[in-house]
Amino acid sequence: MQVLREPRALRAWADDHIARGRRIGLVPTMGYLHDGHLSLVRLAREKAGVVAASIFVNPTQFGPKEDLSRYPRDLDGDLAKLERAGVDAVFTPEPAHVYPPGFDTYVVPGDLATVLCGASRPGHFRGVCTVVHLLFRMSRCHVAVFGAKDYQQLTIIRRMVRDLWLDVDLVGGPIVREADGLAMSSRNVYLSPDERRDALVLSRALAEVERAHAAGERDAARLVTLAREVIGAAARARVDYVELADAESLQPVTRVEGPVVCALAVFVGNTRLIDNRVIGL
Ligand code: PAF
Repeated sequence: MQVLREPRALRAWADDHIARGRRIGLVPTMGYLHDGHLSLVRLAREKAGVVAASIFVNPTQFGPKEDLSRYPRDLDGDLAKLERAGVDAVFTPEPAHVYPPGFDTYVVPGDLATVLCGASRPGHFRGVCTVVHLLFRMSRCHVAVFGAKDYQQLTIIRRMVRDLWLDVDLVGGPIVREADGLAMSSRNVYLSPDERRDALVLSRALAEVERAHAAGERDAARLVTLAREVIGAAARARVDYVELADAESLQPVTRVEGPVVCALAVFVGNTRLIDNRVIGL
């Protein structure tokens, strides 16, 4: 496994594989890898001849009051996991490699980025789209794999690929959960034991919404209320948002008449966690 620190080295690696007729798969990550990330690597291996993973805590997608400086990092552990997973190259640049002095061009998503997490985290998806576009260009990837836990991120990147003719096949990997239902996230490491228990209200709220929908409930406001009640039962949990949104446009719905994503963001202590489930398929 090659460890590449500079965009030029990644580009040379990609040029070489493309010259040999190989299809390149990319798994963009911010590191502190868990089994969810490794499941994305497995998907990339199925779809591409060679696989690169990036580990880059992207500063432009963090707001001024967010956890950029304390975001968990474990480069050595991550490299060992990626090597075991059969990754061919890992790209671990410094911020100044990705955003050199004078960098002044961003990819700004539209309406999809103004709702859900975009409403709570202004500028977040501008940072995500910009870095993902850069990673696509630097790696010349044919396929890129992203986790479905970040449902809005995947939807926005899909639209960016379509709108900007990026010629990258996007693959969404299913959410990977702990045995008790908590969606895997690098941020779970912030949780104290009590918070870890309370964090189960996210998956429980989604299960309750799914159960009520299966029992015939179609009114979005009532489904949201059910989810809020489940979350409200945990002392350390505070809702950022709970929404039922059209699975493609991400605009809020009043009734569940087709595919709808139930998306939620919840602070458990100081840690903001997200989860989602698509219903009405
Ligand atoms: O999902 C993430 O980890 C990040 O948003 C991504 C896609 C690697 C961009 O920094």
